[in-house]
Amino acid sequence: MHLLKSLLLLYTASLAATQNVVELSQTTWALQNLDLNVSVPGKVPSQAHLDLYAAQVIGDPYFGLNDFNLRWIAWNNWTYLSDPIEGLSNDSAIQTWLLFNGLDTFTSIEFCGQHVGSTNNQFRQYYFDVSSIVSNCSSPALSINFGSAPNIANEIAAQPGQETWPYGVEIPFEFPNRAFIRKEGSDFGWDWGPAFAPAGIWQPAYVVQNTAEKPIYVRNSLFDLYREGQLNNLPPDQTKNWVFNASLDVLGTIPSNTSLTYSITLANSSDVLDSGSLSNVTISTATITGCTILDATKYDLWWPNGLGDQSLYNITVNIESGGSLASVQKRIGFRTIVLNEGVITQQQLNQGIAPGNNWHFEINGHEFYAKGSNFIPPDAFWPRVDESRINQLFTSVVSGRQNMLRVWATGAYSPDFLYDIADELGILLWSEFEFGDVLYPVDEEFLGNVREEAVYQVRRINHHPSLAIWAGGNELESLELEIVNETAPSEFSRYQSEYERLFLQELVPIVFGNSRSISYMPSSTNNGYLYLNFSLPVPIVERYNNLTPGSVYGDTDHYDYNASEAFDLSTYPIGRFANEFGFHSMPSLQSWKQAVAPSDLHFNSSVIVLRNHHYPPQDLNISNYDNSSLGMGEMTWAAQLYYPVPNKTDQLANFSSWCHTTQIFQADFYKSQIQFYRAGSGFPNRQLGSLYWQLEDIWQAPTWAGIEYDGRWKVLHYVAKDIYNPVIIAPLYNITTGQLSVYAVSDLWSDASGQMTFEWLNYDGSTPAHSTSMTFSFSIGGLNSTLVRAINMTSRSSDKSDSFLAMNLTATGTLPNQVSSTTFTHQTLFTPKALSDVQLSDPGLVLKRSDSSLTITATKAVSIWTWLDYPEGAVITFSDNAFYLRKGESKNITWTVCQDTTNEAWLDGVTVESLYNNTLA
Ligand SMILES: *[C@@H]1O[C@H](CO)[C@@H](O)[C@H](O)[C@H]1NC(C)=O
Ligand SMILES: *[C@@H]1O[C@H](CO)[C@@H](O)[C@H](O)[C@H]1NC(C)=O
Ligand SMILES: *[C@@H]1O[C@H](CO)[C@@H](O)[C@H](O)[C@H]1NC(C)=O
Ligand SMILES: *[C@@H]1O[C@H](CO)[C@@H](O)[C@H](O)[C@H]1NC(C)=O
Ligand SMILES: *[C@@H]1O[C@H](CO)[C@@H](O)[C@H](O)[C@H]1NC(C)=O
Ligand SMILES: *[C@@H]1O[C@H](CO)[C@@H](O)[C@H](O)[C@H]1NC(C)=O
Ligand SMILES: *[C@@H]1O[C@H](CO)[C@@H](O)[C@H](O)[C@H]1NC(C)=O
Repeated sequence: MHLLKSLLLLYTASLAATQNVVELSQTTWALQNLDLNVSVPGKVPSQAHLDLYAAQVIGDPYFGLNDFNLRWIAWNNWTYLSDPIEGLSNDSAIQTWLLFNGLDTFTSIEFCGQHVGSTNNQFRQYYFDVSSIVSNCSSPALSINFGSAPNIANEIAAQPGQETWPYGVEIPFEFPNRAFIRKEGSDFGWDWGPAFAPAGIWQPAYVVQNTAEKPIYVRNSLFDLYREGQLNNLPPDQTKNWVFNASLDVLGTIPSNTSLTYSITLANSSDVLDSGSLSNVTISTATITGCTILDATKYDLWWPNGLGDQSLYNITVNIESGGSLASVQKRIGFRTIVLNEGVITQQQLNQGIAPGNNWHFEINGHEFYAKGSNFIPPDAFWPRVDESRINQLFTSVVSGRQNMLRVWATGAYSPDFLYDIADELGILLWSEFEFGDVLYPVDEEFLGNVREEAVYQVRRINHHPSLAIWAGGNELESLELEIVNETAPSEFSRYQSEYERLFLQELVPIVFGNSRSISYMPSSTNNGYLYLNFSLPVPIVERYNNLTPGSVYGDTDHYDYNASEAFDLSTYPIGRFANEFGFHSMPSLQSWKQAVAPSDLHFNSSVIVLRNHHYPPQDLNISNYDNSSLGMGEMTWAAQLYYPVPNKTDQLANFSSWCHTTQIFQADFYKSQIQFYRAGSGFPNRQLGSLYWQLEDIWQAPTWAGIEYDGRWKVLHYVAKDIYNPVIIAPLYNITTGQLSVYAVSDLWSDASGQMTFEWLNYDGSTPAHSTSMTFSFSIGGLNSTLVRAINMTSRSSDKSDSFLAMNLTATGTLPNQVSSTTFTHQTLFTPKALSDVQLSDPGLVLKRSDSSLTITATKAVSIWTWLDYPEGAVITFSDNAFYLRKGESKNITWTVCQDTTNEAWLDGVTVESLYNNTLA
């Protein structure tokens, strides 16, 4: 008895000193729906579909038509039940909290059999004081009931007096009414993805027990680094010191006599570079804030990929009162990043830039060319996205020479580990609040819910140097308000003011009130602001259509599914920045095999057609779905217009070749746009960004992606890597005049000079009678383009029908933040006639393998769209692919293994083909 009592005291005493944090991933969980007679092991973090799949109650959600067949999971409620949580103290002096970093989405929470609370926002952090429940609890178990999100969305939409919108505002996918709920929008379907509407404890969860010695627990924190005097959205003075502002949100009550100290080290060394106390400390019950000035000469700057090093530091902030009550360490980088939407200056006008406003990013005071793509949720089930997957994907981003990703809304706010990897690799993440392609309610309950979400996310993410901007959401001004203006013009002003209510009046104070270091705009794709005035309650006043003819504003979207216009440059938008453009293509046969039965592996099989969500089936009854799907037709039509189409007798080989041809069209179309946008850096519109749609796939399906679900590169990612070289050739063909204008384009920050060689070649490898190789010199300023040669094709095309113009560039220049110069090379070709209209010859490709490289030789003729392929079971990136070879030319290819389950057998399975081989039996 005595012994037991002293043991108990000992236990409580040590608990008091250490604070007790129980990770709920360590507890045993079950997933139940008793009406359906289902009870299986559950996990945290997880989602019902994943746990049902693990228990083999369902098959692979990604297989075949399971996107349709598993809808019943989304229409039902699911309960996550824990075993009694071990290691909790029921000392009544101890304060106990439940802390959830993410619940997806509608829950009712019981602890020890008592109702604790309800939640309705996937993107909020929730915490509940359960001290009084714990002290009287014999079996501290959790039961979390998740309501069906599609049902609840429909119920909210049907409430009397609920907001409605004009026809067309809600771009419809599989489940309706996503605007009413705060859950990942693409869970209800999107044109590139499936609709599962999963439910579960999707982020880490904890029980936290505070003690007298450790009365607080830091649940979230904000670290902000900005130049003295800096204001959001305005380029700061780069000679100023840094202000470091730290603000910590805690569970518990902060004692009044509390101070904050800090210390800074390099991220990879424990040597302290600076330390001290934060000043101007303010304390509210649950938040403590302080700041200091940091000497800018002590720290190296952080730069994006290709523009300099990614210097990273760790800052630790301690909350002290007597001893240390709590501390937070975050890894940060010293950088300023601004979206400059300021008026074009006289100096810029003198450089030949058209009037209007800027719309470009500046890193550490430097304009730069943003090269990248759009990132979508990498999986329909976030809990199975881990660091190794993001590492592999972002490594492909960097080797594809990209420096910026737009993290598209209406997915989910990205986890910290994703920003961490971007910090390390130098990938700027244009981030968005999770709103898009619909308009939203503005009742106080909805807005209050959004405020909680936005404050949590802005504070959680702000310290990452990779954070490039916050945008209110996706396609709100460019699309949604335009739809209202068209379909309900008399109601336009009401919907516009509701839009401003949410995306300006609510979100601007949250961003600007928490961070001085980051820019905000209400909508991705907009015409920028009319003006910025910090003495107004909301400093941003949007421009909308307040445009002056002859002036240039804003960023652009471009989608045109009329493939006959794909290479007509006059259809491309002229803006300051291209943030979305694209066309869909098929994934490879290797990816299809992961998700489709062998009998369905042909182009218009119903399974494949139904996995194309470009034009979503409105009618969920599969048998009623029109098989002549528009989305499939667009791809085949484009392929037929421009390339010789496959006609192989082997059905599987023919399918594979068709998939490949749609990828070639996609890549060709993007290349044509990217070179146009990049040449625009030297045109009056001063174009400074190209982010194509879309980086990667969420599943195996026909989509706009350049990287397939498992990481395999499509033709697009190789072609984008090529056209994102620092110095490129951009041949721009004007179909009206027949003139080919060949530009050299550089995104270096200083002058480059070099030579460009032009030569006509026949596809069969012979030299045309008229061919003479001509070389021209050029020099080119930083972030600029220069016309090297203009060729009139109309007068020359008759005798060039079976030949093409080969162009080669060699240039010398210095990469940003480097001292020594680099030699850059680039090659491209211009085909006066579509490849579908010329006679291709067998290039006689020969592939030689060694342990570390592959050598490909075109022995008989020119090899167009040379393609190295490899079997399923591995993800390999080749140093080059989708290139052309002259007759007799050889290329050495090395590779990087990203994944390999074949025990290196993939290497024996490598094949090489050209467009010629792709069409043949
Ligand atoms: C499903 O969950 C919702 C929301 O929590 C609740 O209102 C409803 O009663 C639940 N239905 C069942 C059958 O448990
Ligand atoms: C710096 O922070 C990172 C990420 O939090 C951590 O992995 C690393 O160990 C820290 N480095 C030092 C020297 O503490
Ligand atoms: C602290 O507050 C004072 C008075 O408002 C102000 O002058 C000073 O700049 C603040 N310190 C920092 C580091 O912001
Ligand atoms: C681009 O180069 C041209 C020719 O040297 C020059 O006139 C123009 O001002 C440059 N544009 C910019 C934005 O520097
Ligand atoms: C709405 O449509 C009218 C008429 O086409 C146009 O003049 C106006 O600029 C549009 N407004 C916006 C904000 O799109
Ligand atoms: C093609 O040339 C015509 C005539 O000079 C010009 O009006 C048009 O803008 C040019 N198109 C492009 C895309 O540059
Ligand atoms: C495909 O090949 C077959 C012979 O194998 C031929 O009859 C048919 O015309 C070809 N189709 C096309 C579109 O070339």
